[in-house]
Amino acid sequence: MQVIMLGLPGAGKGTQATRIAEAFHVPHISTGDMFRAAIGAGTPLGLEVKGYLDAGRLVPDSLTIQVVKERLGQSDARTGFVLDGFPRTLPQAEALEDLLRELDLPLQYALYIHVPRTVLMARLTGRRLCRNCGATYHIVFQPPKHEGRCDRCGGPLYQRSDDSEEAVKTRLEQYAQTEPLVEFYRKRGILRQIDGERAPEAVYADIESLLTASRS
Ligand code: AP5
Ligand code: ZN
Repeated sequence: MQVIMLGLPGAGKGTQATRIAEAFHVPHISTGDMFRAAIGAGTPLGLEVKGYLDAGRLVPDSLTIQVVKERLGQSDARTGFVLDGFPRTLPQAEALEDLLRELDLPLQYALYIHVPRTVLMARLTGRRLCRNCGATYHIVFQPPKHEGRCDRCGGPLYQRSDDSEEAVKTRLEQYAQTEPLVEFYRKRGILRQIDGERAPEAVYADIESLLTASRS
């Protein structure tokens, strides 16, 4: 199964991609997570991308495409993947098409999680993440059982540096570069729009039935 997630920042791509990956036993490949891991580890890649992430601006295509190329070349991606946060520009979408052709792994769906822009600021500024395992919470919509602690592993929760109001504004502006991808994948017949303005469980139920039906 090869799918990509599309949608505005905060639409719920990461939340749904995590569930898909667990249920369908494919790796969850998130360029945002890979960049944040590199920043946390202080690698050369991390140093190069930190300024872009903190400001909420897109990392240059050439660098992002290289990172994804290396990741998709790893053996666990041979049986499928859920790509979250990539592609985000037309050059990235074209590069992915070429790469998947080479790997003989055709994309099944571009899952476009649609939400109105008005809900995003609250979703993003209220998001909290587990420092240990990366689990996502929301102080209002998905609160942990104990404040500041992860339900899964007990790790401390933190706020992403780009979930400040200012960085979120920039990220929403940068989405103009991603918007054309909806049409790009619609033309290829693989776009599936999902209503993301419902509880995460309801959103996932739609995705699951779509993916299960395509398998049988
Ligand atoms: P990235 O990490 O990909 O961030 P993003 O696209 O802005 O997406 P988010 O992770 O913010 O949102 P999401 O849709 O995954 O929402 P989530 O499920 O967490 O990228 C970060 C940065 O990296 C970019 O700004 C850029 O600098 C760089 N980058 C990454 N990829 C790149 C690329 N391809 N090219 C160039 N640069 C790149 O949910 C959000 C919150 O809402 C959570 O708190 C969650 O609990 C809550 N929530 C989720 N679903 C629901 C629901 N149904 N109802 C209520 N609350 C919900
Ligand atoms: Zn945790």
